[in-house]
Amino acid sequence: MEGLNRLLELRGVCRSFAGKDVLRELDLSLEEGQCVAIMGRSGCGKTTLLDLMGGLDRPDRGEIFFRGSLLRPGQLRRYRRDHVGFLFQDSGLIPEFTALQNVAAGVRICKSGADPMEHLALVGLADRAGAYPSQLSGGQGHRVALARALAKKPTLLLLDEPTEGLDRQTGQEILDLTLKICRERGITAVVVTHRVEHALQMDRQLLLQDGALTEGAVL
Ligand SMILES: Nc1ncnc2c1ncn2[C@@H]1O[C@H](COP(=O)(O)OP(=O)(O)O)[C@@H](O)[C@H]1O
Ligand SMILES: [Mg+2]
Repeated sequence: MEGLNRLLELRGVCRSFAGKDVLRELDLSLEEGQCVAIMGRSGCGKTTLLDLMGGLDRPDRGEIFFRGSLLRPGQLRRYRRDHVGFLFQDSGLIPEFTALQNVAAGVRICKSGADPMEHLALVGLADRAGAYPSQLSGGQGHRVALARALAKKPTLLLLDEPTEGLDRQTGQEILDLTLKICRERGITAVVVTHRVEHALQMDRQLLLQDGALTEGAVL
């Protein structure tokens, strides 16, 4: 039946900054386990949209439903902690922590009970557990950040241009690994990307333009 496995729904979402309408009556439904690409020109509101989906920000107007329940302002912290994993362009690792400690910090915050070492192994970095972020390559740093996000056991993984700043091959490897794990675990993933070849690997492609989404389009 249609709508039975709907994870997230945005209805008529508006967001503006300093009088500029970034998102205008935006509608979006995400099914459980779906991997979705979002494309769009720089400054069109992709990060703003991810922030709203991840409960980091609130719409000026409109509603967001998670598994059929309205997300209220007072629930956002818990929603983020229990359900959302983030991966940004900048890996956001804590410089004073080793790779393992970075992953463990994520686990501690959300009490997922996941094994940090198992998650480092999952991204192929078990042998770099004791390395600090400054001792890791860009790709390795991204892998650690991915391990940290996955160790939260998120329902929804939000990736904001996760392969920017990496060379083509490393970026492709990280995306392949991310998609493989999301598909194995049934994690819903939303990936903001500038690369059409990456967008076409997802189940769905959405183009953000003039504050709204177009289905099945790439930039
Ligand atoms: N916190 C903020 N304060 C003011 N303006 C913002 C803020 N966040 C985003 N914007 C503006 O909203 C627009 C969309 O930004 P963003 O969502 O970051 O775009 P994208 O990720 O697609 O490049 C831009 O014009 C940006 O300057
Ligand atoms: Mg952005």
